[in-house]
Amino acid sequence: MEGRNKETHWVAEGTIASVGQAMATKNIKLADGVRYQLQDAQGNNLSEPIEAMQVITNVQSFRQLMMKYSCACLEIETKLNVLNAEFSLTNDRNPFESIHSRIKTPQSILEKMNRKGIELTVENIEKYLSDVAGVRVICSFPEDVYTVRQLLLKQDDIRLLVEKDYIAHPKENGYRSLHLIVEVPIFLSEEKRFMKVEVQLRTIAMDFWASLEHKLKYKKSVSDAERVSAELKECADASAALDLRMQQIERQIDG
Ligand code: GTP
Ligand code: MG
Repeated sequence: MEGRNKETHWVAEGTIASVGQAMATKNIKLADGVRYQLQDAQGNNLSEPIEAMQVITNVQSFRQLMMKYSCACLEIETKLNVLNAEFSLTNDRNPFESIHSRIKTPQSILEKMNRKGIELTVENIEKYLSDVAGVRVICSFPEDVYTVRQLLLKQDDIRLLVEKDYIAHPKENGYRSLHLIVEVPIFLSEEKRFMKVEVQLRTIAMDFWASLEHKLKYKKSVSDAERVSAELKECADASAALDLRMQQIERQIDG
């Protein structure tokens, strides 16, 4: 209950001098690098000025938005788990191996908003970012990816906004995955709200490659980066060929 007390404290007594009024109307405009002073109801400074990041993570409307994204992930995960249960009973195997979801961290939201040159407000986060809620589905075979896609998209409460097929059209570096930006309704006590979720579907091999490539990308000290990229590209192609061979074998065995 500690979190709850903290929240009550903030709402009842805390205001932010420069954005206090805006915060009340949920129209928060925060700039990165600017520090904000917290004051109590009498106008006394509560502590040292704090960063935009700290402000936004304490604002109730931001917390509510993140809660809604978590619920949207739950909705997608549940839909997929239901499909998996049904499919595995009738087909004796699972269309996907595992599923993970994540909410973008406040830091990463801030960085992306800055990169895009968009003002940091709760409304803008929802309007301009489509990957705050992310669900990753890992399948055994490439054709399973499209089976899961089909099963998910044919549900009448799912809206497909954007689709990027990096399996049919791999990125230049060799990256493969199927990306869907969908909207899913969540039902809260007072409203039904469609929330955006980025669904990434890929095979185990594609996931292995993407994780490795991601790790290497952030290792600034990699010497001979060009050769490493070329080798990674070769691995991606070899791995994709293996995925197809394994799928062929599976088809022969299963008939
Ligand atoms: P972001 O701004 O990075 O989200 O990219 P985008 O808006 O152009 O969307 P895209 O569908 O291309 O990529 C979305 C997500 O897919 C990224 O955030 C990564 O998680 C993943 N992704 C895309 N390209 C690559 C890649 O080359 N390597 C790896 N490891 N992951 C990638
Ligand atoms: Mg992204």
